Amino acid sequence: MKKLAALVILILRFYVDSCTSDSAHPGYPQSSGFCGLQSDELIVDSFRLQQQIDELASFSDSSAPSVTRILYSEADVRARRYIKDLMDSSGLIVREDGVGNIFGRWEGSDSMAPAIATGSHTDAIPFSGKYDGVVGVLGAIEAINALNRTGFKPRRSLEVIMFTSEEPTRFGISCLGSRLLAGLPNMKSSLERVVDKDNISFPDAAAIAGYEFALETLLEVPLKEDTYAAFVELHIEQGPILEEEGIAIGIVTAIAAPASLKVDFRGDGGHAGAVLMPSRNDAGLAAAELALAVEKHVLETQSADTVGTTGVLELYPGAVNSIPSAAHIEIDIRDIDEQRRNSVIQHIKVSASEIATRRHVHLDFQIVTQDPPAASSQKIVKAIESASQQLGLTSKHMISRAYHDSLFMARVSPMGMIFIPCYRGYSHRPDEFASREDLSNGIKVLALSLLALSSDL
Ligand SMILES: *[C@@H]1O[C@H](CO)[C@@H](O)[C@H](O)[C@H]1NC(C)=O
Ligand SMILES: *[C@@H]1O[C@H](CO)[C@@H](O)[C@H](O)[C@H]1NC(C)=O
Ligand SMILES: [Zn+2]
Repeated sequence: MKKLAALVILILRFYVDSCTSDSAHPGYPQSSGFCGLQSDELIVDSFRLQQQIDELASFSDSSAPSVTRILYSEADVRARRYIKDLMDSSGLIVREDGVGNIFGRWEGSDSMAPAIATGSHTDAIPFSGKYDGVVGVLGAIEAINALNRTGFKPRRSLEVIMFTSEEPTRFGISCLGSRLLAGLPNMKSSLERVVDKDNISFPDAAAIAGYEFALETLLEVPLKEDTYAAFVELHIEQGPILEEEGIAIGIVTAIAAPASLKVDFRGDGGHAGAVLMPSRNDAGLAAAELALAVEKHVLETQSADTVGTTGVLELYPGAVNSIPSAAHIEIDIRDIDEQRRNSVIQHIKVSASEIATRRHVHLDFQIVTQDPPAASSQKIVKAIESASQQLGLTSKHMISRAYHDSLFMARVSPMGMIFIPCYRGYSHRPDEFASREDLSNGIKVLALSLLALSSDL
């Protein structure tokens, strides 16, 4: 069945005429080369791409098939050099900012116009796989190569970005590079304070990796207004939907954003035998009640898009014969609707103080992060839709439940994301996998989207 569908698509592809399908989709410009480009002229070298993915995976602090590539480690530095070399040999102009965000630019004929950017990350959490993020960097370079091979010349410049530290592994800050590019406040003071588990400071770690890093250079990282007219990220889905439904391309319409909470309850503790029930103020039970309240408040929204997780619950002193005198819990709340998510947080906060009062325990309630979700730009969604149609690929709209650098790029540029299927939705584990066919489809859709956006006035 799948083979038959592939055959039909293959035959269809040869009948697709870019100019006629163009006029059917007003999102596409009529001018500037696109009409001249048949979708079957776009050739992705998926064999070479797979070699690059495998080679990049060998820069790792854990043994294959797992990948561990932590910010500013030797493996990370080698990966950076590898990406810069690839950009260079694709004819891109390479530059790096103060925290090591890497940019490869293909100068457009209208070099003053805001550029079209694409990219992702190459850092990898401990014992993870070789596709998360990597697909959006190596794939973007291959999309550029594929466009270049057709003879296409961009009007707006095209840029490939490799973001520094999307994963929070080393310093506890996720999307570090894109947060800085987006000019988020308080980043400088956070980076001045943070140390890794070996008590190495951020500037020291950067210096070891060869970055002439001074906290002052951080001030030059934020993007100037109108640097980009669009940002598109290609990524594996990290969920099972596309594979289960046999769909080639996921078109992301919104990215859910997490808020994280840290809650501490403190009571008096005591001997598990000696202190009778009426005179206890058990911090552990307060935490247990709050965990249930989190679930209750999330379910009360009656929205499938709202999720809440109590992933950490620690009791002190943690002995079977001791009443918990302190409890620490950490809560993750996500939604694509910021107001609804924030209202859940408010309800949780009210519950926490109600529980603390009733149980006579002290409460410390801290909202650690509360990033706004992001909606994709309609123009970019349309460009991805048209590109998929042009290539005869099935597609569906979806929400990104994980967050990406795109969440922060959305603050400084219109944003969109392209998802491709991955094996069983596995991610952040060594058996993460995307087929060469799916990779190739995603790269073609990215290439045609970049082409359309670059030509767009
Ligand atoms: C495009 O291809 C030409 C010819 O092979 C090459 O010289 C150039 O560096 C490539 N890349 C770009 C971005 O122009
Ligand atoms: C971490 O390093 C700082 C500065 O070098 C030092 O003052 C502090 O004592 C260290 N902390 C630990 C836990 O080693
Ligand atoms: Zn990722």
